[in-house]
Amino acid sequence: MSSSIWTADANEALSLSLVRAPEDKASLWSREVYEGFHPTFTYPIFGEEEKIYGHKDLSIELKFASGSLVQYLNVQHSERLPPSSAVDEIEDTISKFIPPGYYTDEKKFLERVEHDAAHFKPFGDKIYSYSRAAMPLNKGKNVAIPQVLSLEDQETVDYEVYHSTWKTPGFREFHRRMQLYVLLYIEGGSYISEDEETWEFAVLYEKRRRRSSPDIVTYHFVGYASLYPFYCFPERVRLRISQFLILPPYQQDGHGSALYTAIYQHVLAHPRIAELTVEDPAEAFEDLRDRNDLKMLLANEKFMREGFGPEAVSSNGGKVGGVGNGRSRHRTKGRTIRAGAGKMGPPAERAWLEKWRTELKIAGRQFHRLVEMLVLKHMD
Ligand code: ACO
Repeated sequence: MSSSIWTADANEALSLSLVRAPEDKASLWSREVYEGFHPTFTYPIFGEEEKIYGHKDLSIELKFASGSLVQYLNVQHSERLPPSSAVDEIEDTISKFIPPGYYTDEKKFLERVEHDAAHFKPFGDKIYSYSRAAMPLNKGKNVAIPQVLSLEDQETVDYEVYHSTWKTPGFREFHRRMQLYVLLYIEGGSYISEDEETWEFAVLYEKRRRRSSPDIVTYHFVGYASLYPFYCFPERVRLRISQFLILPPYQQDGHGSALYTAIYQHVLAHPRIAELTVEDPAEAFEDLRDRNDLKMLLANEKFMREGFGPEAVSSNGGKVGGVGNGRSRHRTKGRTIRAGAGKMGPPAERAWLEKWRTELKIAGRQFHRLVEMLVLKHMD
C-alpha cells in the first residue's frame, strides 16, 4: 500500500470552528463562515513538513465556543497503522498545546456552548468600540442578496475591544485557550511566558443581542494582540505589539485596522506610554499599519497644514522632504519641498518632525517612513 494514503497534510486535516449557540447563528446578512476554516501553519505542532503519518482519511476537528473559546477535539480516521514510533499520536500531540479539560464529547461541548453563550463576558476594560453593517453572505463574490431582505432588514453589528493583563480575573485561563491561534496563523509565532508579568492584551469581540431575547448579549471572539511594555527613559514605557491576529472568518473586513486603531488610541490616551512599536511585523501587518498611520496623519489638519500646506512653503520653505538625509528634492504641485530648505534649515526641520513624532507617539523609523510616503504622495 502506498505510504501517501497514510500521510495527511496537517493544514488540511485540521479544521477549526467557532461554534455559536443555535439562537446566535448569524443572520442571512452575515457571512456564515465560522466553521471549518483551516490553519495556515501547523509546523510548530506536527513538525517542519506539516504532515501527519499513520491514518487513512484523517480529519481533526478542533472546535471553540465562539466566546469563551472552550475547546472540543475530535480525531477521526477510517483506518490507522498499529502504534509505532513513526505513527503520529494526534491527540497526545495536540494536547501538549491546549490546556487540559477540553471536551471530547460533542454533546457536552454543545451544552457548554449554550451555557457560555448566555454567560460569557469579555475580561478586562472596554477600550474601544465600533459598529458595522453586517455584510451579505459572501460579500463581493457575486452572491445575490436574498429577495426576502430589504436594506431595512440589514443588521448593525457592534464590536468591542477589551484591555487586560495577567492580573485580570479569568484572563490567564482564557489566554491559554486563545494562544493556539498564534501558532496556527503567525509565522514564527510561539507561546509567550506567563512568568513575564508585564504582558498586556487587547481582545476584539463581536457583540450581538439575541433576536429572541434582546436582553441577552453575546460575545464572539474575532482576534487579539499581545502587547509588551518596554521601559522608556526616564519613567514611561514603549508599548510593543508582539502578536496580532484576526481569525480568517473576519479577515479582509477592516477588523484588523479597527483593532490596530483601538491599540493606538489606547497608547495616545495614556501618558505613561511614550510610543507604539511593532515586533518583527509580517508584510500584511506592515501594510495594515502603514495604511492606518497614513490615514491618521492625513486626517490631522494641523500636521498636514504645517508640513504640507501652502504656508509650510511660504513660512518655512517646505519643512518636510527627504527626511533623514537632508538632501533630496521633490517637485510638488507648483512648489518644491526640499529638506532643510528655507528659513528652518535641517535642525529646525528635525525638531519639527520630532515634536510631531513624540506627540503622535509613533516609533522613529515608522514616522520617517510615513513622512517619506506623504512627500511622495504630494509630488506631481
Ligand atoms: N471590506 C472589504 N475589504 C476591506 C474592508 C472592508 N470593509 N476594510 C478593509 N479591507 C481590506 C483592506 O483594504 C486591506 O486590503 P489589502 O489586503 O488589499 O491591503 C485588507 O482588507 C486587510 O485590512 P483589514 O481588513 O483591516 O485587516 P484584516 O482584518 O484582514 O487583518 C491581518 C490583517 C492582521 C494581517 C490578518 O490577515 C491576520 O491576522 N493574518 C494572520 C496573522 C498575521 O499575519 N498577523 C500579523 C503578524 S505580525 C505581528 O504579529 C506583529
